[in-house]
Amino acid sequence: MRIDVVSIFPEYLAPLELSLIGKARQDGLLDLRVHDLREFTTDRHRTVDDTPYGGGAGMVMKPEPWAQALTAVAAGQAERAENAGAPDATGAAGSAGKPVLIVPSPAGERFTQATAHELAEENQLVFACGRYEGIDERVLEWAADHFTVRPMSLGDYVLNGGEVAVLAMVEAIGRLLPGVVGNPESLVEESHSDGLLEYPVYTKPSSWRDRDVPAVLLSGNHGKIAQWRRHEQYRRTAERRPDLLAEFDAGKLPRADRTAFADLGYDVVDGLLVRRPDA
Ligand code: ADE
Repeated sequence: MRIDVVSIFPEYLAPLELSLIGKARQDGLLDLRVHDLREFTTDRHRTVDDTPYGGGAGMVMKPEPWAQALTAVAAGQAERAENAGAPDATGAAGSAGKPVLIVPSPAGERFTQATAHELAEENQLVFACGRYEGIDERVLEWAADHFTVRPMSLGDYVLNGGEVAVLAMVEAIGRLLPGVVGNPESLVEESHSDGLLEYPVYTKPSSWRDRDVPAVLLSGNHGKIAQWRRHEQYRRTAERRPDLLAEFDAGKLPRADRTAFADLGYDVVDGLLVRRPDA
């Protein structure tokens, strides 16, 4: 996969040289390049922002440096497609062969594990890191001719710019690329992979500061262990993220799992979990 990040603070992206993502880059699994937006300005002061039309606080990012930068990274894609032969030019899943332009913004659609899986299928992702009050809206309209444009939010809070959001999204996407995580099984049983939070985990010693590891985990009974872990997922999700249970497909749950949910105050109605009013 190819990833381009455009930012006025390229140093902010330095952590992407470390750990699993850094290793994926070294191993040639991920071709990630960071570009300084100011390299695409033409004035002496390398200006990237100006005052907002209509008034108000803060500054807005000027459109032309963004158009220049995004044209350059999109042209890079065209060159690579030529060099590689035709298939790559149209090979991207779900985005009609255009690279995907992700614009981190609290006003974007919510980035989830499902989004990470979807984006991990693409050939090229471009991240445009806005700062100040954001990027002139016309850039996103113009960019739609060259990219599949997706404004994307990490959550309902405001960061100072897109860079920290890009660190999170690139890590979430990058670890799903084939070969990046050593043992792909560890991607299966983790929070959000099945719409639930992960079960609690323990390691040695089995007794620590008067606290014992749940006995079932020492029993060697793999069926019992799997069931305990599933029920712990239900308990945790009900306690911490009941919103996730509204989406959970409970239609095919075995009886013991329905009982576990009943104990947590949920009934299965038409395949969906419904919280009992008295619970
Ligand atoms: N930029 C500023 N706030 C953000 C958020 N919550 N998610 C993504 N990008 C952002």
